[in-house]
Amino acid sequence: MSGFAFLDGQLACDGYPVATIARDHGTPLYLYSGAAIRAAYGSLDRAFAGYPHTVHFALKANSTLAILRLLRGLGASADANSGGEIEAALRAGFDPSQIVFTGVGKTRDELDRAVALGVNAINIESDGEADRIDALARARGVTARVAVRVNPDIDPNTHAHISTGLRVNKFGVPLEFVAPLLRSLARKPGLEPVGVHVHLGSQIVDVEPLARAARVLADLAREVRDAGVRLKHIDMGGGLGIAYDGVTMADPAAYAAAVLPAIRETGLHLIIEPGRFLLAAAGILVGRVADTKSYAGSPRFIVLDTGMTELIRPMLYEAVHRIVAVAPRPGADVESEVVGPLCETSDTLGHARMIGPVEVDDLIAVLDAGAYGFVMASNYNRRRFPAEVLVDDGQWRVIRRRQTYDDLFRNEQD
Ligand SMILES: Cc1ncc(COP(=O)(O)O)c(C=O)c1O
Repeated sequence: MSGFAFLDGQLACDGYPVATIARDHGTPLYLYSGAAIRAAYGSLDRAFAGYPHTVHFALKANSTLAILRLLRGLGASADANSGGEIEAALRAGFDPSQIVFTGVGKTRDELDRAVALGVNAINIESDGEADRIDALARARGVTARVAVRVNPDIDPNTHAHISTGLRVNKFGVPLEFVAPLLRSLARKPGLEPVGVHVHLGSQIVDVEPLARAARVLADLAREVRDAGVRLKHIDMGGGLGIAYDGVTMADPAAYAAAVLPAIRETGLHLIIEPGRFLLAAAGILVGRVADTKSYAGSPRFIVLDTGMTELIRPMLYEAVHRIVAVAPRPGADVESEVVGPLCETSDTLGHARMIGPVEVDDLIAVLDAGAYGFVMASNYNRRRFPAEVLVDDGQWRVIRRRQTYDDLFRNEQD
């Protein structure tokens, strides 16, 4: 059994009872299924099997080293979005030639590090950034491989906060400026233009906008080829969504069928940068009931020992995660507010959820929390980062120990 499912009335991870793992390692706890990561990677990779491609896992979704090593072992490359993510990729064993470096607002130091390493491509965001990379590369006597991030002004039909490919978004170079920019890059001694890049947004379940974006990039690659700029790859970014409701799922085969026709006409290597699709369903956040209350005229509150400091997606994106009792008790469901312990009203993990009887110390799991979960954790209210446990190859192990109070104060100079 792979992933998360109920077994003999108890939530299990790859067949192992979540309650046993939580008893050993405490809560709040992120728990990952290695089998689910392998299955998601396999399904995406197989969907593109008929065409030369590389899967650059987007580290922003989850950059815990053991997870990165697992993905590298499956054949993944890396998409890093900051100097810290480049460092994580290197520490997890990725070669610089496997790293693409994306990000609006890369600092000069971050760019210089990427140039010095000789990463696969730096996805540039503006003419000014291109000039800075050129200067850094020339100062080092090297040529930096660059791709231009295109802003195609295409609506990915997702939440506004995770939509990135519209003209009003801060990302990329507006389409009509890209071909002239690529031609000018080819004339700069410190740069080698190798690709075009797009990332429309995240949690995309309708693949039609991705098909349109692929067509735009393919046309662009042909246009600049006719002007003498021969690119090597097209990078379609990430964005493929998962079934947070347990039902509505973007399908890797449909994704491939949407983008490949246009890409195939160019003959260029295809890069994709999935994050959420590979990790979200492979992780849960396990918390414990700290208190319950239901007074006349108020909702029933289930107060957990975990909240927005461990998983901020519901508060930041109005994301809806399924929430289940790890060992459901018999009895009728009651509409409940599932809230965290922080001094914030917005610290609500689930609103108006139908949940059965729960008692203090019961375990509760927030599903589909493997992507954009731990990576967005904070120490607000002086809370400590949770532990992370990975179940893989028939065993489970701590891949990040819970922060201690000493960890929490380590950098302070009192
Ligand atoms: C440039 C880029 N690539 C890839 C991703 C990964 O997206 P997702 O997790 O939706 O696949 C993101 C996420 O925002 C991104 O900004």
